[in-house]
Amino acid sequence: MSNITETTSHLSPIMRVMQFAARKASRNLLRDFGEVEHLQVARKGPADFVSKADKKSEETIIENLQRDRPGYSFLAEEGGEIIGSDKTHRFIIDPLDGTTNFLHGIPHFAISIALEREIDGNPKELVAGVIYNPITDEMFFAEKGKGAFLNDGTRGGADRRLRPGKRDIFQDSLFATGIPFLGRPGHAKFLKELHQVMGHSSGVRRMGSAALDLAWTAAGRYDGFWERGLAVWDIAAGVLIAQEAGLKVESVTGGDVLETGDIIVTNEALYKQLMERVA
Ligand code: 2AM
Ligand code: CA
Repeated sequence: MSNITETTSHLSPIMRVMQFAARKASRNLLRDFGEVEHLQVARKGPADFVSKADKKSEETIIENLQRDRPGYSFLAEEGGEIIGSDKTHRFIIDPLDGTTNFLHGIPHFAISIALEREIDGNPKELVAGVIYNPITDEMFFAEKGKGAFLNDGTRGGADRRLRPGKRDIFQDSLFATGIPFLGRPGHAKFLKELHQVMGHSSGVRRMGSAALDLAWTAAGRYDGFWERGLAVWDIAAGVLIAQEAGLKVESVTGGDVLETGDIIVTNEALYKQLMERVA
């Protein structure tokens, strides 16, 4: 894709590599998304097709990352763990976040890629993350210590720095969450949390992609986000992007958010108020 190099020439080498892989995989996803609506009546059903789209996206991402960073390790939603010759670097990949939306023809899904690094035996830390929405061509990205950015191809392809939303009054704030569904635990607990938030805020959204919920919170579209039971590939890139945007990212249940998958993200001003309502 000729515009990949044009719009990314100013990026660091690793950012270029990760964004390139995400954009490459997005081409398959977009093509397959265009097919989904024709499959609603097919005998095998679209679920099978979507699972193939998911796998194809993951293969494309891994192929590109392996070519540009040979030896790095991987943790990916579909294929699981790949231990490379370099165990100190690991990509964490969600090749299609928002699978249910994709399956239903709802244009809200993303590719999420994070890179974590271990230095001198210290715990691994997230050093880079990208979340790409192929439908809107919005690339959210961050590197440790360098801030978080959004490039949506406008403003001459310039990156826009993401900063925490300034809203500090709970009643004026808009929150995002994820609702547990068939086969997932915590339905009664979630209804209590929702009750606590919906009656005291501007509203609660449930869009169906945790990666985009995090990216949108980093971009100030939501004032906060909480969800329980997420997988590390759903949130790894989004955690770094939100942190680098200046937001507070914690585990609702204590401990390391990447391990518990129970996430809460807001600015400093709203943190305590949201936490009290959803903990
Ligand atoms: P997915 O689209 O890649 O499945 C919606 O609430 C969010 O939860 C999405 O980001 C979705 O990712 C994720 N999700 C769906 N099923 C999940 C599961 N069993 N464990 C963890 N996350 C899940
Ligand atoms: Ca996911």
